[in-house]
Amino acid sequence: MKHLLSLFDITPEQTAEIIELSAQLKSEWKQHTLKQNLSGRVLLQIYEKPSLRTRVSFESAMIHLGGSGLFMTEKEAGLHGRESLEDIARVTSRFADVIVLRTFSQKTIDDFAAVSSCPVINGLSDDSHPCQALTDLLTLQEATGGLKGKTMVYLGDGNNVAKSLAICCADLGVNFVLSAPEGYQIESSFYDRIRKRIPKASLTTEPDPIKAVRQADALYADVWASMGQEAETEKRKKIFAPYQINAKLLAAAPKDVKFMHCLPAKRGLEVTDEVMDGKQSIVFDQAENRMHIARGVFAWLLT
Ligand code: CP
Ligand code: NVA
Repeated sequence: MKHLLSLFDITPEQTAEIIELSAQLKSEWKQHTLKQNLSGRVLLQIYEKPSLRTRVSFESAMIHLGGSGLFMTEKEAGLHGRESLEDIARVTSRFADVIVLRTFSQKTIDDFAAVSSCPVINGLSDDSHPCQALTDLLTLQEATGGLKGKTMVYLGDGNNVAKSLAICCADLGVNFVLSAPEGYQIESSFYDRIRKRIPKASLTTEPDPIKAVRQADALYADVWASMGQEAETEKRKKIFAPYQINAKLLAAAPKDVKFMHCLPAKRGLEVTDEVMDGKQSIVFDQAENRMHIARGVFAWLLT
């Protein structure tokens, strides 16, 4: 049985396959020819953290395919203490056909999947956000007409989103540049792990944001303080201020550069309104693509 727990758990070919499948289902959806081939199937989502896009995109995707969605917070599911995580996985996977988990610890998702009798999807953990990265590469492909040799420059914290994006870029021949302050960069052992699967992966770090954006096809931002790091917000505001994507930074990049953000955005911090709402911004196409990737992931796991 297949799961989608981390991009490290699937092959680069499978990464490309999911994106291709999603693009095909997106075009069917646009032409109103999508087949409801998941009729009667049940999606269960259990979340430890808030969500707008992930929760709604997965549920909408399942409904469009003829199935239904159920949602529980970790408190309702009793994830921490009412019974063991493994027993919850054994029980819920007998009811559901596919389960999406959003957690703090990646281990919670991995342990759940180890005993689940249905496919499990990572809907974000502190370590990774694979469905977001797949979405980002589909969006870049649509916006620039191809992926190989393109350059994605991520400015900000080397977090869950940045790490999954780095793997996905490497898998698809996109140069990945991280521009982050010291102490917030992606560890070199993580890049070594990517190079084990893609020896020619182009993964670089350029702490100077002005230099980093010069060759970019897309600039990417995420929040400076992720869910669970709220107490560090004020400290991080000062540290990350030079990495704000604003008109000045955009002017240092090629003139047709795209702006991307996984959302939710903190306008006025990692990105200004003028960039977020400007003509180079593709953030809402990116948000819509979460749903198309959700369908591609369902198709890949369930059909
Ligand atoms: N991008 C993303 O995962 O958004 P949500 O946190 O709203 O699901
Ligand atoms: N890095 C952010 C992503 C939100 C989609 C977080 O983990 O909160």
